[in-house]
Amino acid sequence: AFSTTRRSLVEAAEVKRLGVVGAGQMGLGIALVASRMARVPVVVVDNSQKSLDKGLAFAGKSHSQVYIRLNADDKCIDKLLAKDVGKGKLSQSDADETRSRLTTTTSMDPLSEVDMVIEAVPEIVHLKKSIFAQLAQICPPHAILATNTSSISITQIARATTSDPTDLSAASRVISTHFMNPVPVQKGVEIISGLQTSASTLATAIAFCKAMGKIPSVSADSPGFLANRILMPYINEAIICLETGVGGEDDIDGIMKNGTGVPMGPLALADFIGLDTCLSIMEVLHTGLGDSKYRPAVRLRLMVEAGWLGKKSGRGFYKY
Ligand code: CAA
Repeated sequence: AFSTTRRSLVEAAEVKRLGVVGAGQMGLGIALVASRMARVPVVVVDNSQKSLDKGLAFAGKSHSQVYIRLNADDKCIDKLLAKDVGKGKLSQSDADETRSRLTTTTSMDPLSEVDMVIEAVPEIVHLKKSIFAQLAQICPPHAILATNTSSISITQIARATTSDPTDLSAASRVISTHFMNPVPVQKGVEIISGLQTSASTLATAIAFCKAMGKIPSVSADSPGFLANRILMPYINEAIICLETGVGGEDDIDGIMKNGTGVPMGPLALADFIGLDTCLSIMEVLHTGLGDSKYRPAVRLRLMVEAGWLGKKSGRGFYKY
């Protein structure tokens, strides 16, 4: 990681227009917060019209009445904005402007006009690599190419921008801005540079996350980065406590929730994140760091095999 001193010597570039690739829960949350807090126009790109329709449905008759669903709980942009207007946290005109700055498309072409793009597609290595190869071609030569990956190495993603590893023209602009879920709620974001990432890319990513009202932490490009390196072994240990009978679900979540002040206990949090995601991150830690202390819990693997993936599938450690 760059030292704070070195970081402060480099000037951040201004991001006047943002692209978001992937209209899932993370992508939509990032788009909402960028539009609302950084007050920049945001174009959300997804390859499937179906996903865009599911995520972003134009409920009203005009495009300014964009209705964006963030998750199955019916947390949608319209409702979130209306709630904050009702609570006096946001004026009606700011809410309308936030919506009007958001547009959606199935074409990558509008990304030729953005100063920064944040990719938030599923954690599939070849998918991310192919998107970054395209972004290097389509985006302007100054654009920051950020990924929301939670587990893939930034160095590897940056490498996909070119066939020549010594050509850093695009690779130096690749960085990770890893937002936490739910993006509108969690203030923290971890920022990860790859080996190729330039200091000005880091400075711009930090400045833009701050403009979004977030509090950035910088992590080196290491398996799980900081957040999941610390969080996932904690969740995994809670699952091991459950499978070995040290405690039941309510005891495990109860002591952590009531004893350490976290909003959810580790098993409820695992359900919220998705057990498949938890398993794949544990596998990244186990493989990448080669230490048996990162071995995924047997129960975690079994639950994923059963299709009990947590909140999104109706059953995890709890039923929904
Ligand atoms: N989108 C937007 N806002 C949301 C939201 C969502 N999906 N879910 C909840 N909120 C807002 C609500 O609107 C509400 O706002 P107000 O205070 O203004 O009314 C506020 O959050 C509290 O929500 P609720 O009262 O409905 O519920 P809660 O108090 O139980 O909070 C929670 C829900 C915010 C999810 C909270 O339980 C929480 O913070 N849990 C921990 C989540 C966490 O640890 N996230 C990190 C996961 S790890 C990760 O993301 C990285 C990775 O790579 C896996």
